[in-house]
Amino acid sequence: MGTEHEGVPLNLADIDASAWRELEAAASNPQSGFRFLNLCSVDAAARPQARMVVLRRADRSLRLLEFHTDMRSQKWLELSANPYAAVLGLSAQTQLQLRLQGTVERHAAGSTQANAAWDRLSAWTRMTYAGGPPGDEVAFDAIDGAALPKPADEAEGKPHFGLLIFRARALDWFQLRRQDNRRALLTYDETGALAAGRWVNP
Ligand SMILES: Cc1cc2nc3c(=O)[nH]c(=O)nc-3n(C[C@H](O)[C@H](O)[C@H](O)COP(=O)(O)O)c2cc1C
Repeated sequence: MGTEHEGVPLNLADIDASAWRELEAAASNPQSGFRFLNLCSVDAAARPQARMVVLRRADRSLRLLEFHTDMRSQKWLELSANPYAAVLGLSAQTQLQLRLQGTVERHAAGSTQANAAWDRLSAWTRMTYAGGPPGDEVAFDAIDGAALPKPADEAEGKPHFGLLIFRARALDWFQLRRQDNRRALLTYDETGALAAGRWVNP
């Protein structure tokens, strides 16, 4: 399995590094399969809840993924009660699945992190936070194609804008191949360092 490097075979350290390089690149590449990730939380009834989110930033050394969301959304409530989350991504080109487990820190509107992220958003994106609470019923006239949308002020969205920082503690790496599928399990310590890795049966 190659040379050992701090307890992790070198080829697994390479696989880990390349997975995180891809995640970092995806944050600024709309063509990447990992640009949209499935973020899964657990609700108050202990049921899994999954939804797609845009990957805004990745940090390979700290093993962080950053997402933006509306603080009035169900996911925000779910993650405040239970910070455990899974993130699932697929690159269709390379048939690579990344399945991460970890916890989510929330940075609410008004926090330094949320303010800094808000400042970098386009006016167009800011408008997505200016509407009514996500999941609330839409007023009839608002879905009538003939009706003009109510003009909203982009600044109205700022009090709803929150940041989710996912910190990975484990990565299940799976590559679908014509013959020999490959799967590796990698774990990270609390500082983000690669703690262990092993090949497992796919
Ligand atoms: C391609 C795509 C990207 C999305 N990106 C985000 C996102 O970055 N943040 C977000 O909160 N919701 C995003 N959504 C909407 C969520 O998938 C979800 O429907 C919404 O946030 C409500 O989820 P919740 O009720 O579980 O909180 C996206 C949806 C699609 C289809």
